[in-house]
Amino acid sequence: MMLPSPKLLVTSLALVASLISPATGSSVHHRSEGKSCGPDKSPPRHFGFLLPRAYSVMDVFGPLEVFQFLARQTKLDLYMLYRTMDPAKTEPLHAAMNRFNSSFWPAVATTHTYADNPPIDVLVIPGGAASRSPDLGPEIEYIKKVFPKLKYLITICTGAGIGAQSGVMDGYRATTNKQAWNQMTAMGPKVKWVSPARWVEDGKVWSSSGVTAGIDLALEFVRQKYDNGTAIADFISGSIEHTSVLDWRQDPWAAKFNVPPMN
Ligand SMILES: *[C@@H]1O[C@H](CO)[C@@H](O)[C@H](O)[C@H]1NC(C)=O
Ligand SMILES: *[C@@H]1O[C@H](CO)[C@@H](O)[C@H](O)[C@H]1NC(C)=O
Repeated sequence: MMLPSPKLLVTSLALVASLISPATGSSVHHRSEGKSCGPDKSPPRHFGFLLPRAYSVMDVFGPLEVFQFLARQTKLDLYMLYRTMDPAKTEPLHAAMNRFNSSFWPAVATTHTYADNPPIDVLVIPGGAASRSPDLGPEIEYIKKVFPKLKYLITICTGAGIGAQSGVMDGYRATTNKQAWNQMTAMGPKVKWVSPARWVEDGKVWSSSGVTAGIDLALEFVRQKYDNGTAIADFISGSIEHTSVLDWRQDPWAAKFNVPPMN
C-alpha cells in the first residue's frame, strides 16, 4: 500500500481543517452546558437515534434521510440505540393500542444498547406513541446520563415530551407537536415552550414541531453546522423534493390547534 508523503499528508489535513467550519450562532447560556469538556466547536459527526418502543417511523427516518445525504459529503457515523440488541420495535407494547390487531410495525436493526454508551455527540429523540408510554425508565435514565456529553440534543415531534420528562430540557426554549401540545408540555413544566414554531434552537437543544417538521429542523442543522451547509441543504431538499420551511416561526398548526403564542 502506498502511504502519502508527510508533506502531502499535512496539506491534506489543512484542507480538511479548512472544510470544517466552527459551529456559529449559539447564544449565551447561564446553564452548565459543556462544563466538562470546554467548547468543542467542530461539527458533530456521531449521531445517535434513541429508539423507544413504538417510536414514530418518520420522526426517525425523516431526519435520518437528510443526515444520510450529508454523510455522503462529510464523514458521519450512525448509532441506532435500543434497550437490547434486538430489532427496535415500532409495535405498541399493549394490545389495547392496536385495536384491529394490525401487523404494520416494522422493527429496525439496532447497533448499540444504551448500556454500550457509544461516543455520540448528537442524540435524536423521536416521538410517536412512545412519548405516552408509562415504561420509559431506561430511556430517561440514558438521556440524563448522556446529555452532559452531547454537543446537541434534537427532539422530533412528541420526542420533546420524552426529553422533557428526563429534565434535561428544563430552562431551555423548545417546541413540540401542536396537536399534542397540552399533553406534551405538561411533561415538562420547567421547559420554556415556544409557539408558533416549526422548530426551535436554543444552544445545545434543538426541537421540532410535528413529524415532518423534523425534516426542516435537520436541513437547518445542516445549513448552520457544516461547511457549505447552505448549498448542501439546498441540494438535499431538491433531491428529496421537499419544500423547505426556512422561517422557524412559520407554523400554521399552532393556530389550527389553538395553541396560543408564547415565548
Ligand atoms: C392477530 O393477527 C395475527 C396475524 O397477524 C394472528 O396470528 C393472531 O392470532 C391475531 N390475534 C388475535 C387476537 O386476533
Ligand atoms: C457544496 O455542496 C454542493 C451540494 O452538495 C456541491 O455541489 C458543491 O460542490 C459543494 N461545494 C464545496 C466547495 O464543497
